[in-house]
Order: sequence, then structure tokens, then C-alpha cells
Amino acid sequence: MGLFDEILHDNESLFSDEIALDYDYIPKEIPFREQQQHFIASCITPLINNKTGRNLFIHGAPGIGKTLAALYVKRELEEKYDNIYSIYVNCWKKDTSYKILIDICEQIGYKWTHNKRTDELMKIITNILNKKSCVIFLDEADRVKELDILYSFCEDLIKKSIILIANDKNWFLNLDNRVKSRLVPELLEFQPYNSVETASIMRKRASYAFSPSVWEEEAIQSIINKTIEMQDIRSGLFLLREAGNIAESKASRKIKKEHAEKALSKLTNFKIKNSKDFSNEEQRILELVKNNSGKTIKEIHDSCKNEFAYRTFFRKLEELEKANMIEIVEVPGKSSIVNYAKKLTDF
Ligand SMILES: Nc1ncnc2c1ncn2[C@@H]1O[C@H](COP(=O)(O)OP(=O)(O)OP(=O)(O)O)[C@@H](O)[C@H]1O
Ligand SMILES: [Mg+2]
Repeated sequence: MGLFDEILHDNESLFSDEIALDYDYIPKEIPFREQQQHFIASCITPLINNKTGRNLFIHGAPGIGKTLAALYVKRELEEKYDNIYSIYVNCWKKDTSYKILIDICEQIGYKWTHNKRTDELMKIITNILNKKSCVIFLDEADRVKELDILYSFCEDLIKKSIILIANDKNWFLNLDNRVKSRLVPELLEFQPYNSVETASIMRKRASYAFSPSVWEEEAIQSIINKTIEMQDIRSGLFLLREAGNIAESKASRKIKKEHAEKALSKLTNFKIKNSKDFSNEEQRILELVKNNSGKTIKEIHDSCKNEFAYRTFFRKLEELEKANMIEIVEVPGKSSIVNYAKKLTDF
């Protein structure tokens, strides 16, 4: 081998399609979730036959394919049937009835939302959706602050499947009886992938994203092992990308154990949720915390005083803490300390 053969040149990349590592990328196949997808589809099927569908509550730990399975079914439904409205709302960002309804208006192409109240929007949406049938996916449903909207969907929509997704089963069990007795959903629990499944998913995602044979076996295996330990594919994808970038920054033609190890050492700073699940303000604050991890709330706020009033800043920090993105540690007699992301294993 020539002296320079191991060096990656400027115009070369270890990645063949880096997008395949994006958290919201929908691969051609979703291995090990076929049964769950069939179950979701079975709740929707009556709509195809012009009957009303069944409602569904999907729950399970973070990063194990709930959103992905739902979006996959949604995509297939859209491709095959145009007499069914297919709506997906991430309630992390859209956590009020108003925001959810505005999002739905956008998805169904209704533009005249300006100056309309929540109840007016609900009426308009009901009229439109009831002309066909509809599937409404409410992801991160436990973030919805006003449950009236679920009640209205149940009461006002005629042919529908309402599909709720959340981590914690108890959220549904503790729902107001008025809503629960109208929804009466099927329950679908996603179990974490076992180690063989995790390894196979990771290798497949890597094969979409990287040029062939750039991975040294030991390197990818160490990343797979960590992903198995954490039971979170999202973290695994992060590690693959990170190791690839580290190798590229060293102009290495191979992703080696040392690159994987460096990526692994960054993991404690890694967040659980997709950052796209957050508003621009939340993402900005997250970035500030990331760069100032371990400092006090006051110190971090001092660096962004012009951008955020203290109260807004504090409220957003609390939201981010609830999502396990950051940790606020109280220090007696002093301003609390903010750390970027708990370790994933703490979840
Ligand atoms: N079977 C699979 N094949 C390929 N990629 C997968 C598979 N399962 C999950 N993933 C990937 O793992 C990541 C996490 O999946 P997803 O977003 O669906 O998790 P989730 O269960 O909805 O988690 P959360 O509760 O945190 O929202 C995504 O990037 C997704 O593409
Ligand atoms: Mg999800």
C-alpha cells in the first residue's frame, strides 16, 4: 500500500448517504416492527371499507421505533388511499388545542386560520374531515395540555382512527374518564429491541449511510454494544455519525476503534429527544446549556439576557428538564446549576 493510500482526500467522504442517519429518516424497511405495523394498520383498515376505525394507544420506552412505525404506516396509507385524511401531529411542540388545530389546518390545506378561535377551527376541521374519513396520529400525546381536544375528536369526527403515542402507559390509565370512555383504544406496547435485533438494525442503518467497508469491525461492534446496553437506537445513530465525522476529521479512510471510542466518550452529553421536537427557542436554550453545562442558571441567563426574559428562560429550562434533556441541580443558598442531559442510562 502506498504511503498516502490511507489518507482520505478532501473530495472524498466515508459517508455515502449521511441523511440515512437522521433521526427522522424513514428507511425502506423497518425490521422487527412488522407486527406492530400490521396492528396499527388493522385499526385503520375499517376506514378503507368506509366504516369507522378503531382508536389506538401506543406506548413504550424512548428510541424504540414507535414514531417510525407510525410514520411508516401513515406514508403507506397516503400512497394507497386518497379518500382518507392522514394527519400526524407531534404534540411536543403543539401542546395546546389551538396549536394542534392550526397544524391540522396546514396539513389539510386550509389557509384561512387567521383570527379564528379554537372552537371555530375545530368546527371547520370537523366539517372538512367528515367529508372523508381520517387517521389522526398524536405523537407525544402526554404533552397535550388540554384534553378537550381529544374529547372533541371523539365526539365530532365520524369515521376516524385516533392514534395516541406516549412513553408511559400510566398517562393513558390516568386520563379523565370522560375522555377515556370515549376513546376506548386498543393498546399496543412496544418492547425494546433485543441485542440481535439492535445489532441488525444498526448494521442496516450503517450500510445505508456509509460507503462499503469503511468500518473496522471492532469499531462498529463497540458502538453496537453500547446501543444494546442503552436500548436506544437514536443514541446508536448518533454514535455512528459521530464516529464517522471523527474519522473524517482525521482524514482516515477507515473508522477505527479509537474513533468509535472518542464518539462514545461524547455520549454523556447526548440528548434523548430529536432536537426537531423542540421549538426554536428551546433549541437555542439547549445549545446554550450544552455550551455552558455545569454553570448556574443565572450565569447562563446572563449570556443571553438580550434574547430571553428571565422568566421565559426559566420556564423553558423546566420544560427541557421534564424531557430529560437537561438536569437542574439545586444548590442551597445559590442559583441552581444546569447540566446538559442526564446520562441516557439514567432514564
Ligand atoms: N426497526 C428500525 N429500523 C431502523 N431504524 C429504527 C428502527 N427502530 C427505530 N429506528 C430508529 O431509531 C430512532 C428512534 O426511533 P423512534 O423515533 O421511532 O423512537 P420512539 O420510540 O418514537 O422514541 P420516543 O419515545 O423517544 O419518541 C429513529 O431514528 C428511528 O429511525
Ligand atoms: Mg417518538
